[in-house]
Amino acid sequence: MRSFAGRDILSLKDFERQEFFRVFEIAERMEPIARNRRNVDMLKDKTLVTAFYQPSTRTRLAHEAAMHRLGGHVTGFADFKMTRAGDWYQESIKDTVKMLEFYGDVIVMRHFQKGAPAEAAKWASVPIINGGDGWGEHPTQILTDLYTVLREKGRIDGLKWLAVGDMRMRTMHSLGYALTQFDCPITFVAPPADALFPGSPDMRMPEEYKADFRQYSLNFREAEHVEQAIADADVILVEPVIQPDYTQARQEASKDRSLTPAAYKITRELLETKAKSDAILLHSLPRMDEIPLDVDITRWSRYWQEAFQGVTMRMALLALVLGAVE
Ligand code: CP
Repeated sequence: MRSFAGRDILSLKDFERQEFFRVFEIAERMEPIARNRRNVDMLKDKTLVTAFYQPSTRTRLAHEAAMHRLGGHVTGFADFKMTRAGDWYQESIKDTVKMLEFYGDVIVMRHFQKGAPAEAAKWASVPIINGGDGWGEHPTQILTDLYTVLREKGRIDGLKWLAVGDMRMRTMHSLGYALTQFDCPITFVAPPADALFPGSPDMRMPEEYKADFRQYSLNFREAEHVEQAIADADVILVEPVIQPDYTQARQEASKDRSLTPAAYKITRELLETKAKSDAILLHSLPRMDEIPLDVDITRWSRYWQEAFQGVTMRMALLALVLGAVE
């Protein structure tokens, strides 16, 4: 197995099966620290730099919380418009990271352009963690989700997945790549063009990803409505279909947001009547109306556990890439 020390975490396409289990093993070791709300001194000599070119609640703050839990330091920006990358100079990724690499020991970057963290990794002398890039990937979120499944179900292999939402989303691409390493059939349910409103985009899995998934032997199929696939699913992962364009730096909420059609929505009634009694429901959040609030209290929901594991997973990744554990 390749060492994680000094390694960039850009994509799950290049993650091998035993590397997933190594990350999960370290996350489990980190769990008591986070659960007991303790801070330790494992990374006391290290600094995390956050470079966020798009809004985030979970990804940036979970990385920052993870660094604090491990006794490390944090610097960076959450609003790139207040840096030289976002003003008159439009400073390049190269010039920006050639500065940031001296301000810390690892950089977590979110960007509206697919491939921006990979571009940063070409120039930086410290590891780059992809915190979500345009319609590209979101590897740390899906590592979190798989670890949540492992902790909640006791295994990953042999579980059937249903993924619902906009398949252009970065989480869905990382999910597809990750499941190529496990015995996990998956059904994707997403709106075709015009399904939400006249002129709404095709949100089905892009051909380039489907070709990759076939190449890596992912057992996947597509369905039109959640009702066609929910009865078989052990893990239901939902993302919004009503959402901003992830290739934009930032978008204000529009006044005329449409509602999520039933085909892409997981309601309490659907869970009660059609889902397996012991299925689990994940959502990386933020959400619109695709999971109504009354689902939160049901036995299927696991998104708050997912939020907690978001911290333990980032603790594991930071400890690994910074060489605090081998
Ligand atoms: N799940 C996720 O990426 O959330 P944020 O956009 O808040 O980071």
